[in-house]
Amino acid sequence: MAFHYQNGELFAEQVNLEKLAQEVGTPFYCYSQRKLADNFGAYMRALAPFHPAVCYSVKANANLAVVRAIAAMGGGADVVSGGELYLALKAGMTPDKIVFSGVGKTEAELEAAVRHGIRQINVESAEEMQLLAQVAQRLGKRANVAIRVNPDVDALTHVKITTGKKENKFGVPWSEARGLYHAAAQMPSLRVAGIAVHIGSQLLDLEPFRLAFTRIAAMTRQLEQDGITLENIDLGGGLGINYNVELPPTCHAYAQVVRETLGDLNKNIIVEPGRSVVGTAGILVTRVLYTKQTEQKRFIIVDAGMNDLIRPAMYDAWHSILPVRREGVAPVVADIVGPICESGDVFAKDRIIEPVQSGRLLAIMCAGAYGESMASEYNFRPVPPEVLVYKDQYAVVRKRRTYDEMLQGQCIAPWAEEQA
Ligand code: LLP
Repeated sequence: MAFHYQNGELFAEQVNLEKLAQEVGTPFYCYSQRKLADNFGAYMRALAPFHPAVCYSVKANANLAVVRAIAAMGGGADVVSGGELYLALKAGMTPDKIVFSGVGKTEAELEAAVRHGIRQINVESAEEMQLLAQVAQRLGKRANVAIRVNPDVDALTHVKITTGKKENKFGVPWSEARGLYHAAAQMPSLRVAGIAVHIGSQLLDLEPFRLAFTRIAAMTRQLEQDGITLENIDLGGGLGINYNVELPPTCHAYAQVVRETLGDLNKNIIVEPGRSVVGTAGILVTRVLYTKQTEQKRFIIVDAGMNDLIRPAMYDAWHSILPVRREGVAPVVADIVGPICESGDVFAKDRIIEPVQSGRLLAIMCAGAYGESMASEYNFRPVPPEVLVYKDQYAVVRKRRTYDEMLQGQCIAPWAEEQA
């Protein structure tokens, strides 16, 4: 077990979190390399018959050490910015395992992708494809292009992370995709490499996947009849995870759907899982600053805030919160809140939890995905440091910046001196 209690104390693998907190200070993110490997390995094993490229979605957690660990397991990357492309290459991912997604890539980003000759650039509009062709031509290269199609499928997930409905900004409308493929096939600086789809995140039901993949299979066959042969089918993000009482499907069941819908096409399968690789492999450790009982409520005020982990504030996301030292006393009901000057800075409302005193530590679970990568310096607070644990070893893989470091790159306007 990655995170587990030993004699009432919470451990990350074989590392005592209370001791770690004393060394690193709070709040901090802590990742288990073993859990990361288990989660990633599950995709590799389940999809092995399809010779997959498991392109980890860097946006879920862009820590260099995390991305490196995935690269070392044979993983590739799904990137959505020039920055993520740079990071994936730094982490050791090879261009043939990198796909570039996103609805608004800049010319400079397209250029970087073409220069590196990455596996596939998933374009999301006719205009983007035109620009990609121009960029590739200017560089004297052929760009590997795929069209991300919008299959108009409801992923049955949170509205802010639904992407495959026709009213969403993502992908090329279904009715236009075939025409765009024909246009791409005519452009000498493009090499039609594949087709891509991504319908949303935190998916707990396989049926939307089945529907989307079935449509993709039909489109692939249609194109083949038209004389356009694809190599890759990119299925987008991975499975949802269990934050509370969810029952996500297994990678094995997911692979079964891939087999049933796309198995006979004999294509290379690309998947872009993010959350299900890193989500359960990470926690955010925070210290209780104060407790406060008002007429209405009991509050537990912690030193992590919405700038460190925005998911509860942004998506009303539920994260399990555990005391790092379990006393076994009768629980109370409390709101667990951060120090940020916003009423939305709440990690948990009316949560049943041990009555933790100030100074004690809490672990916000399943925070490995979309935690640090969405963190900000709001309230001029440094982004939390990150610690990677492996068996009984740990390494601070991102340090907490000092205020001076946070000020780097800022300066006072030259005329301010004169006005002083
Ligand atoms: N591929 C594409 C094109 C994507 O847009 C995404 C996620 C993924 C792959 C990875 O999906 P996953 O395997 O993680 O479900 N911040 C939100 C989630 C945003 C997801 C955005 N796209 C959250 O914290 O729930």
